Amino acid sequence: MGEVKAATEKVARSRATVKSAQGKPAKPSREKPTEPEKAEPRVGVFICHCGANIAGFLDVEEVAEYAETLPNVKYVKRNLYTCAEDGIASIKEAISKHNLNRVVVAACTPRTHEPLFRKACEDAGLNKYLFEFANIRDQCSWVHMHDWERATEKAKDLVRMSVMRVSHLEGLEDISVEINPVSCIIGAGISGMTAALSIAEQGYDVHLLEKESQPGGMLNSLYNLTPTGADPKRLIKGYIERINSNPKVHLYTDVLIKSVKGFFGNFEVEITSKQGDFSIKCGTIIVASGSSELKPEGLYGYGKLKDVITQGELEKMLLDDRLPALHDVVMIQCAGSRGMLVSYCSRICCMVAIKNALNIKEKFPDARVSILHNDIEVYGVIQEEWYRKARAAGIRFRKFDPEKIPEVAEKDGRLEVRTYLDLLQREASYPADLVVLSTPLIQTEDGLSLSKYLRVPIGQDKFFFEAHTKLRPVDFATDGIYVCGTAQGPKDVAESVAQAHAAASHAVNPMRQGIVRTEAITSRVDEDSCIGCGFCEWVCPFGAVKMVINEQMRLVSSINPALCKGCGACAAGCPTLAIKTQHFTEDQTLAQIKAAFPEPTKPGKGFEPQILAFTCNWCSYAGADYAGVSRMQYPPNVRIIRLMCSARIDPLYVLEAFRHNADGVLMSGCHIGDCHYISANLMTEKRYNALKEYIEALGIEPERLELAWISASEGEKFASTIKNMVDAIKKLGPINKSLLRYKAPERMRDPETCSKENAIKA
Ligand code: FES
Repeated sequence: MGEVKAATEKVARSRATVKSAQGKPAKPSREKPTEPEKAEPRVGVFICHCGANIAGFLDVEEVAEYAETLPNVKYVKRNLYTCAEDGIASIKEAISKHNLNRVVVAACTPRTHEPLFRKACEDAGLNKYLFEFANIRDQCSWVHMHDWERATEKAKDLVRMSVMRVSHLEGLEDISVEINPVSCIIGAGISGMTAALSIAEQGYDVHLLEKESQPGGMLNSLYNLTPTGADPKRLIKGYIERINSNPKVHLYTDVLIKSVKGFFGNFEVEITSKQGDFSIKCGTIIVASGSSELKPEGLYGYGKLKDVITQGELEKMLLDDRLPALHDVVMIQCAGSRGMLVSYCSRICCMVAIKNALNIKEKFPDARVSILHNDIEVYGVIQEEWYRKARAAGIRFRKFDPEKIPEVAEKDGRLEVRTYLDLLQREASYPADLVVLSTPLIQTEDGLSLSKYLRVPIGQDKFFFEAHTKLRPVDFATDGIYVCGTAQGPKDVAESVAQAHAAASHAVNPMRQGIVRTEAITSRVDEDSCIGCGFCEWVCPFGAVKMVINEQMRLVSSINPALCKGCGACAAGCPTLAIKTQHFTEDQTLAQIKAAFPEPTKPGKGFEPQILAFTCNWCSYAGADYAGVSRMQYPPNVRIIRLMCSARIDPLYVLEAFRHNADGVLMSGCHIGDCHYISANLMTEKRYNALKEYIEALGIEPERLELAWISASEGEKFASTIKNMVDAIKKLGPINKSLLRYKAPERMRDPETCSKENAIKA
């Protein structure tokens, strides 16, 4: 406990620095915006040929000529490759030579190239938030490869929308927070211990919290390890010795997390222990809380038949040397996984089964061991060798038909497993002294609670959900919190150790810099307009909003920018427009909406519906890009507006889209459970349902509004959603805008007020 005190004092000193520097405690600093954006917009537009990737499928020259006619555009240039050295140089040169204070690049996709072009703007002295991307490759040339004219028209529209948006952008400064150079790791299994030692060896204090009475996690109950066969006890012992001899690692066992407060740079973890409650202050947190083995009650007789056990239970028996003499052992793979009790493949079960089958053969060389499987998945050279070794040792691998899973029953006092052999196309039965079920790893109850304390998302499989599978595999969307080990999904010891090192270096990087900078895309409150309704506090998934009494003794909303992640769920629900989500403000998005379709469509034979799609940055926009990268073709009737989260789709945006000539509107985002802002998209669903009712009450066909959850890998779903919408709306004809009898910006924000009754009143 003395260690905790020392660490707490140290952190208190560091926080005092923040206080004295900023006047108020825990308020991150935000510099004043730079001047250029206050002047009349002077927009430069750079249109990329992307070799033939864009120029081969639409008329780039015509798009450039059109861009010159747009308001505020002072300079237009075409580049063969805007991202090449000369392309970047041309942006920098034009900013200074033509005194540009806004830049639009029409090219591939912001998901890969926005940072590069923002950096070019910054290098030329322009605030990076005064840059805008028009996605004319992934969402235009590549998905309309056989329609030169309409692809060209769409590219012009996308450039126009970007020019309108960029003209409304404001220069912003990233948020800077002084960081407490201490890390906290939740879970002292192999991942947690590895991460702790890695951080400590880089010179930083680290608190390692373990709920059990000793570190080691799941390793404590394993007999030996795959793929090396190493002794887990020796491994843990070595780790504990290194931890005990490193003064920078502070290990706490028998502790439980009570709550986590604060934000990146200044977290406070409240802990319950047998000695009493205490708290730890830290700058970064690593979640290494592990997982547990599924106990499949009722499946294959588990829990009812005495000798039906799991692989984990077999390991424990091997470890305690209490396995009775065995003659016949049957292992059943995918017990509970791949669509039975959980949807996913647990990845390590095949290797664990092979390892334990060999363990049994070693103890009882005459035992007949059969592994009944749907598929054997062993990955990596070493594991393949174990598979061959098992075959050579006489272990039988029998593939069953997944449609006819094995049956386990008791017969004459012994177990019998009956199955249908897929390859031999016949029934078979196996007597067994022991039936061992290879069950998947699952998230723990503690892990689920932790996700709530930390306000970090869990995915559909209930494991912790990283910010991006490929680009940010150990980060959460919540800055300053990282994940490693089986808390994030099933993996073996080697993978857990590798991931722990990655998480440790991600946690150390900001501590080394001393200051953390986070994007300025956060929400802010205009206290004068705030009526203190508290909707924003209720809807915020990060607890960033609190209702406070201000200096005028009024109850108003107050947003902590360091906690706010900028999803915009609050702004989309504020009844008085008092909340602005920076970089995604109402006027910026409304400018895009108004620019999307300047003319209404005409009824008749050639009717081509105009569809406006709102996508979230993380999933559905990426899904639309994926359709492009895969060259999936869909009708060029759609224009896409990117928001950070689908929860930012204000009902007003949908109604304004209809009012400004959209015949159909698509609201789209991550699947429920996958939202990068925890559960913000639940609000999207409520708003969609309310809006459907609302427009129907106005007399507008509800089919004109669609909701689609589309992941980054569901390009096909994006393409088919657009095709289906186009087909459906073609049957309806153009929208009758005169039915939209509401006065913009009259608010119909939260689902309670966006109701049928209100529509009728309007
Ligand atoms: Fe995709 Fe929230 S981030 S819906």
